[in-house]
Amino acid sequence: MSDPWDSHAQWWQEEFTDGADPEYSEQILPLIESGIDAGSTVLDIGTGEGQVARLLVERLGCEVIGVDPAGAQIAEAEARGGGPTYLLGGADSLPVPSAAFDSAVACLVFEHIGDVDAALREVARILKPGGTFLFLLNHPLLQTPDSGWIDDHMVDPPEQYWQIGPYLEEAETVEQVQKGVFITFFHRPLSRYLNTAFDVGLSLTRMEEPSPPQGFLERAPEYPAAASIPRLLFLRFTKID
Ligand SMILES: C[S@@+](CC[C@H](N)C(=O)[O-])C[C@H]1O[C@@H](n2cnc3c(N)ncnc32)[C@H](O)[C@@H]1O
Repeated sequence: MSDPWDSHAQWWQEEFTDGADPEYSEQILPLIESGIDAGSTVLDIGTGEGQVARLLVERLGCEVIGVDPAGAQIAEAEARGGGPTYLLGGADSLPVPSAAFDSAVACLVFEHIGDVDAALREVARILKPGGTFLFLLNHPLLQTPDSGWIDDHMVDPPEQYWQIGPYLEEAETVEQVQKGVFITFFHRPLSRYLNTAFDVGLSLTRMEEPSPPQGFLERAPEYPAAASIPRLLFLRFTKID
């Protein structure tokens, strides 16, 4: 599968894994660890280089399979080792049997998936009845395309506020996240995700909108209100029996 994640896997691995990113080390990984039962079976959808999969093996003794369509991510995941098994595959057609997992995790993946209906149907298919789905997204309300800090010097005194882009419009955008690194993002309103999840038999049991962690805030001291704008949305679903 030709995928920008194949050509840009190294960017992701250098910038966001192995302790490089405080949002992962201080917030995302602990949240995931707290939502998974020790010793359970887990499918990590869009596993990347495997940091979530490794964590669940190392810290909780889980039996983990990581799936990703980018060969460059799977190759690095296998090289980093740590106990999970890896498979090449996309979220809309997961290469695993039905009703086989206690839990599934998708961490910062669905904003890169075009067919959200098929992907959520697949989550419901592979979970055992009563199974858990941990769903982590860039916050779809506050991190829409064209959202960001505005420093308004046209008013006196100058104002600083967080602008929200067009929230209700579903949009596919290609963003240059670093010089020469172009990544495709899909924006959808939160209701689109929730109602699709409900339709496939996933029931919402928990929602967190955490303040960005200290390590992130320290890198953005020019925005004193940054602690009040969540970047992450964490949802926990249970597969209805
Ligand atoms: C932002 S990275 C997150 C990786 C990993 N979940 C983590 O948290 O470290 C997004 C990952 O989603 C994968 N991805 C992109 N499209 C996908 C799809 N249709 N199905 C499954 N994974 C996909 C990419 O290859 C990439 O590894």
